[in-house]
Amino acid sequence: MGQSLLNEGMKVARTIPTMKEIRGELPEPVGFVPTMGYLHEGHLSLVRRARGENRSVAVSIFVNPTQFGPQEDFETYPRDAERDLTLLRQEGIDVVFVPEAEEMYPADFNSWIVVEGMTEMLEGASRPGHFRGVATVVAKLLNIVQPNRAYFGRKDAQQALVIEKMVNDLNMSPEIIVAPTVREPDGLAVSSRNVRLDPEERQAALVLWKSLSLAQQLRSGGERSADRIRQQMIALIEGEPRARIDYVSIADPESLRELDEIDRPALVSLAVRIGKTRLIDNVILDGAS
Ligand code: PAJ
Repeated sequence: MGQSLLNEGMKVARTIPTMKEIRGELPEPVGFVPTMGYLHEGHLSLVRRARGENRSVAVSIFVNPTQFGPQEDFETYPRDAERDLTLLRQEGIDVVFVPEAEEMYPADFNSWIVVEGMTEMLEGASRPGHFRGVATVVAKLLNIVQPNRAYFGRKDAQQALVIEKMVNDLNMSPEIIVAPTVREPDGLAVSSRNVRLDPEERQAALVLWKSLSLAQQLRSGGERSADRIRQQMIALIEGEPRARIDYVSIADPESLRELDEIDRPALVSLAVRIGKTRLIDNVILDGAS
């Protein structure tokens, strides 16, 4: 089959009624991948997984203003709508939902979803209100698209947990699937924000993956003290002059409470500023031995 035939298949919905109408005609099961665009291999891995597991695939592209703090990078978040649509056409998806902010948040919008507890740690502590914006927009998107399955990346481990909790607490229907982090060949987690790094910063950004790898090495060498692992990670990151630590955490992967002793699987996560760019990454450490 020629590329042009595939290309003609993808519908673009810019309004909520159009999206719902198209959804009504899609063969089930429907897989859904919510994104903020500027698509990369991490997003595309979710799209391909959804393609493989469902009869139809929907993707949304929406840079959600409510999950950005007033001092954050909403205005300058990278955007390239045409390139995104071309990439999605090549993946053979069925529909892409690209609403304007006014469509999702009309002037009288007044309802919010707050997942308590786990949203107060880590990203939630550094970015107040962030997860309120994420939970609210994801709930809206799930209500609009009504997928059978929705796909999220492990790269944003806390986000995936918050969404699983919301879906479970509020008895929402979609199955939530969390897929592995896609990395560059040198280990840097693929991210839309990586384009902001200049060549020196791109090299410096490797310190995130190096410190996570160090944690894995120490753990497999038998180290059980979370504090000793954390201290060595911090020392490694502080050796990189362009890096500023926001947090380094070794926590229970469900409650996100910090661990003293690694006697069960542990989520090692970190946020580090490289110049002006804030990057996050994580790995799971094995609890055994
Ligand atoms: P965005 O940052 O565009 O990411 C969309 C999805 O891609 C998220 O589930 C994210 O975890 C996943 N992703 C990003 N980088 C990845 C990587 N390197 N490997 C695997 N998956 C990766 O996350 C958001 O948008 C927004 O918060 C959203 C959920 C769309 C709500 O606005």
